[in-house]
Amino acid sequence: MYEFLLNFHSIFRYAVMLSLLFSIGVAYDGYRNKKRFTKSADTLRHWTATIAHIQLIVGFILYFKSPIISFFYSNYELVSESWNTIFFAVVHFAIMLIGIVILTIASAMAKRKPSDELKFKTMLVWYSVSLILIVIAIPWPFSPLSERPLIRY
Ligand code: HEM
Repeated sequence: MYEFLLNFHSIFRYAVMLSLLFSIGVAYDGYRNKKRFTKSADTLRHWTATIAHIQLIVGFILYFKSPIISFFYSNYELVSESWNTIFFAVVHFAIMLIGIVILTIASAMAKRKPSDELKFKTMLVWYSVSLILIVIAIPWPFSPLSERPLIRY
């Protein structure tokens, strides 16, 4: 179960990032070229947030299953020596949560904006902020924060 969730969570990062990138591209094009906020743009807005929510739920389940996290909560005195543990228990969790909360609020705000221009603008600005936070908190093999593989198999 834990192995499966970790693999899923690892590969699903690409779905989160690609959907955000695609949404940002569509929002930029729509805003710049004063396009109509069509049904497909709205579906994209909605599914991008939903994909991030799936990752959030899997992240929470992983949080309760992970040996790294249980080590964090049961060995307070040793934790300060293990940055990797602090990263996943606090930093990764907090930044990802903030990124997904921003994305959720932005999606709801964009939906309610009175004009198509404002819908695209809201998506463009806040989906970009969310993507930046998520990219920073991913443990890329080249990240200074914590290193994990690009793909698990
Ligand atoms: C968009 C949001 C997120 C993305 C893109 C993401 C991405 C990742 C990636 C790439 C890893 C490394 C997986 C590997 O070792 O191959 C990871 C690990 C982890 N993530 Fe996330 N994550 C997100 C949100 C969250 C959230 C919100 C939580 C907690 C509620 C969470 C909890 C964890 C935990 C506990 C691990 C380490 C598990 C372990 O090694 O035992 N993640 N995450």
